Amino acid sequence: MTDVQLKELLAEMSLGEKIEQMIQFHGGFYGDVKLITGPGHDYSVKPDQQWRIGTVLGEAGYEHLKKLQDGFMEKQPHHIPSIFMADVIHGYKTIYPVPLGQGASFDPELTKELAGATAKEASAAGLHVTFSPMCDLSRDARWGRCMEGTGEDPWLNARFAEATVLGYQGDGIEKQGNIAACVKHFAAYGAATAGKDYSGVELCERTLLDDYLPSYEAAVKAGAPLVMSAFNTINRIPCSTNKWLMRKILREKMGFDGVVISDYGAVQETVVHSASYDKADAAAKALRAGLDIDMMSDCYLSYLEEQAKESEELRQLIDESCLRVLELKNKLGLFDNPIRGSKELEEAYFYCDAHKELSVRAARESATLLKNDGLLPISKNSKIAVVGKLATSTNIVGSWAIFAEADKTVTFADAIKSRYPETEVFVYPYDEADEKMLSGCKACDVVIACIGEEDFKTGESKSISDVTLCPEHQALFNAVYGVNQNVLSLLYAGRPLAIPMLAEKSKAILDAWYPGTFGNIGICELIFGDANPCGRVPMSFPHTTGQLPMHYSAFTTGRPVENWTGYVPFASNYMDVTNVALYPFGFGLSYSEFTYSPVELSADTLQKDGKITATVTVTNKGTRDGKELVQLYIRDVKGSVIRPCRELKGLTKPFIKAGESVTVSFDITEDMLRFHNEDMEFVAEPGEFMVWIGGSSLTQNGVNFRLI
Ligand code: BGC
Repeated sequence: MTDVQLKELLAEMSLGEKIEQMIQFHGGFYGDVKLITGPGHDYSVKPDQQWRIGTVLGEAGYEHLKKLQDGFMEKQPHHIPSIFMADVIHGYKTIYPVPLGQGASFDPELTKELAGATAKEASAAGLHVTFSPMCDLSRDARWGRCMEGTGEDPWLNARFAEATVLGYQGDGIEKQGNIAACVKHFAAYGAATAGKDYSGVELCERTLLDDYLPSYEAAVKAGAPLVMSAFNTINRIPCSTNKWLMRKILREKMGFDGVVISDYGAVQETVVHSASYDKADAAAKALRAGLDIDMMSDCYLSYLEEQAKESEELRQLIDESCLRVLELKNKLGLFDNPIRGSKELEEAYFYCDAHKELSVRAARESATLLKNDGLLPISKNSKIAVVGKLATSTNIVGSWAIFAEADKTVTFADAIKSRYPETEVFVYPYDEADEKMLSGCKACDVVIACIGEEDFKTGESKSISDVTLCPEHQALFNAVYGVNQNVLSLLYAGRPLAIPMLAEKSKAILDAWYPGTFGNIGICELIFGDANPCGRVPMSFPHTTGQLPMHYSAFTTGRPVENWTGYVPFASNYMDVTNVALYPFGFGLSYSEFTYSPVELSADTLQKDGKITATVTVTNKGTRDGKELVQLYIRDVKGSVIRPCRELKGLTKPFIKAGESVTVSFDITEDMLRFHNEDMEFVAEPGEFMVWIGGSSLTQNGVNFRLI
């Protein structure tokens, strides 16, 4: 449709019909329901009104959605098609590593591929929009949803956010095989106070702008046509009624002109929050704040029309919001072709060989080797005991795999037996050690302890107050360690757990995150040395929960402690634990050994419009070929406001053959050094900077340059 035709359509619609376009129902209204993540619905719907509602949440499957769309086309008075949206977060049927695992790959190009493959399956199943990427920066492992994001670093998060959007949307959201991205949760949902889901966010404006918003902005700039408002508050105002956030920041500053949808029930929750007097007030506030679609509450449905009849201003805003929804339908090509997918496409893509290969590869790239005292890789001739319930569990794909089928998931025990049939493996899939298990472990060369948390223990509303490895798994580890000290701790987790005991006693620790449907095959390939680990820590591992929130790019203090070896009175440290992480951001081991030459700068001053180049030589001193994650960090030594002690500004992951070297260069330009200064201007300030290039955020031996 042309813009003129869309406006003509709008003009033909009644006020009630316009409001109906601004509502999202879940499948329960259509006799089916896949997913309810909030209150059900206790509100009244007029006869057949569900067929006039603008969009549907959480339903999928070609035949099912075709039937629904036929219903909309027939019963909506203007034959306006619906948009089918769902949470397809890290795969539709074929599930890939959870976003935090993808973060550990430090490879946004890989994520783009995964999103592309996800879109093929989801689009085959009739979907138009996914509620992804989740761009929320997370620095607190207590928060259950840190699994859904790519970690603690603003720059890296932004790269993943844009890659995900580009991957889903491919060569156009109107085309079969692609889906539209919905950026969420706007904004700063990951900064929930004390890591407790749905709780308020207290951030200073500078931290919000410099650290939390860049990832949403990157996703918007990459072309995402939808944004979801978050449950939390910003500046003590719920995001869904936050005019400053949605109109000033999102629309004006970031230039977003698409559709804003609320999170599930979030508009009515502003009443419970005590930020709206009642549902009518909530509806008017959300609309004024710039919220176009009310997901799963009856505020717009039942409380907007009466108010709008009396208010030209509200009618005007309804026109704007309804038009945005119609424009989105048009961009999705739904007026010409309301139905996506087909039976044939579903058969062609679901669990196809290419997606299986991708799932295995992605798990190999994500898994992070945290410790290795010479145990790995394990010889295929070894006798191996595998212990722990997680060894035979299909609960290792991660939450938000709502359309996945558990019987397709390859467990670790299945993977090791099918990929390495010649190897002698004894599986004891229990979390309690018994005599049989212990004598089996004693008789083996190596024990693989599958420990961590099953995937239903992370995700939405799964915050915890203690991120230490659970007591059952500590006991299991200690029992097997008592009879055989060659223990590989194979971690499955959706967050960086506090594992000081494992760090001390395990011979090796490999974090598989949640590797997805076929990912365990890739994990086995790493363990046996058919692949070389290259994943890195995307979110710092604390020693104790009390260190949270934590991130490598912390701010300097007036009483710093360098290289903590014990408590320093009247300095900024704890009496009982160091300031640094157990495993810091960017850290991860390989079967190769990489060394770095000192950093060389092409000049020691940077002009405002110029660039300088920082170069190192990276050498693989080991005997195996491997990939090394080369990371560029910069510190702004002094600023008009306190600056982080270092920030990631670039990375590359070259493959380096054993014994060979590569030269890696990064260009540094003025725009990479900008931040919100004391007057809230986004600028780089002249002065001294430090540069490090190395294999983790703790890399030492920086060099200096000046910005003039
Ligand atoms: C979650 C969102 C999700 C929505 C729809 C909410 O509870 O916070 O991330 O997209 O439900 O399923």
